[in-house]
Amino acid sequence: MTLRNKPLTEQVALITGGGTGIGRAFAGVLAESGARAVVIASRREDVLKATADELNARCGAERVHPYAFDIRDLAQTDALAHSVAQRFGAIDVLVNNSGLAVPESVEAITEAGWDKVLETNVRGAMWLVRAALPYMIREDFGDVVNVSSQAGKNGYADVPSYCASKFALLGYAESLRDHARKTGANIRVFNFCPGLVDVDHTGADVEPRAGAIHVRNMARALLFALSLDREVVLEDINLYAR
Ligand SMILES: NC(=O)c1ccc[n+]([C@@H]2O[C@H](COP(=O)([O-])OP(=O)(O)OC[C@H]3O[C@@H](n4cnc5c(N)ncnc54)[C@H](OP(=O)(O)O)[C@@H]3O)[C@@H](O)[C@H]2O)c1
Repeated sequence: MTLRNKPLTEQVALITGGGTGIGRAFAGVLAESGARAVVIASRREDVLKATADELNARCGAERVHPYAFDIRDLAQTDALAHSVAQRFGAIDVLVNNSGLAVPESVEAITEAGWDKVLETNVRGAMWLVRAALPYMIREDFGDVVNVSSQAGKNGYADVPSYCASKFALLGYAESLRDHARKTGANIRVFNFCPGLVDVDHTGADVEPRAGAIHVRNMARALLFALSLDREVVLEDINLYAR
């Protein structure tokens, strides 16, 4: 059976945390590659708007659209997915990129710190997938891209809640992939598990800091993953500085 394909120029992407860092690099590469619409969503409206303006100016078209929401709020998360689908007709690529760490050791971990990290990094992603899935199924097309981490494969003493959240995101992604396989849905699931990514030194001719990779490698890897045949399962994309 041939699975439905769709050119990037017809696709609508939703990137959480798309106003800064890795999410911004993802938004830039998709917009410059001609995606029909790229919605970048997080809490800070001013940051999102500035990023959208800059990326739109760079590609000479109104492709990047800001949307303010808090991923820790279920109603706002549902509203984001429904709003993108209503405004643009589809959610073809969902990038679960919003994330943060609260550096509390195993002995010092707090309820507030744990909740903040788990709710932002994994519960919100699960909510967004749940809301976006019916639109992907309706279109018979979708890609879910999760930004986990090297800390989703290895534990580090200074950030136990972050590691737990990034391991959890990978476990959730496996269940989602199995669900798509069992139901026959044309939905692929990719996970990024990067080591350190320099999100401060991002200029084309700028060297990343020692031990980190330039953020453009995340953007290139995203385009590569999305370009693969629909039948191909690419599980985890592990990128590290050597
Ligand atoms: N940089 C690295 O070395 C590295 C390595 C491995 C994995 N990662 C992962 O990559 C992803 C992006 O990180 P980054 O390095 O690009 O850092 P970043 O610039 O701080 O990006 C994190 C994004 O998450 C958003 N966010 C945080 N809380 C949110 C909330 N409650 N609701 C909605 N959005 C929220 C932030 O936007 P607002 O503040 O506007 O909400 C921000 O745009 C994260 O998941 C991170 O764990 C990063």
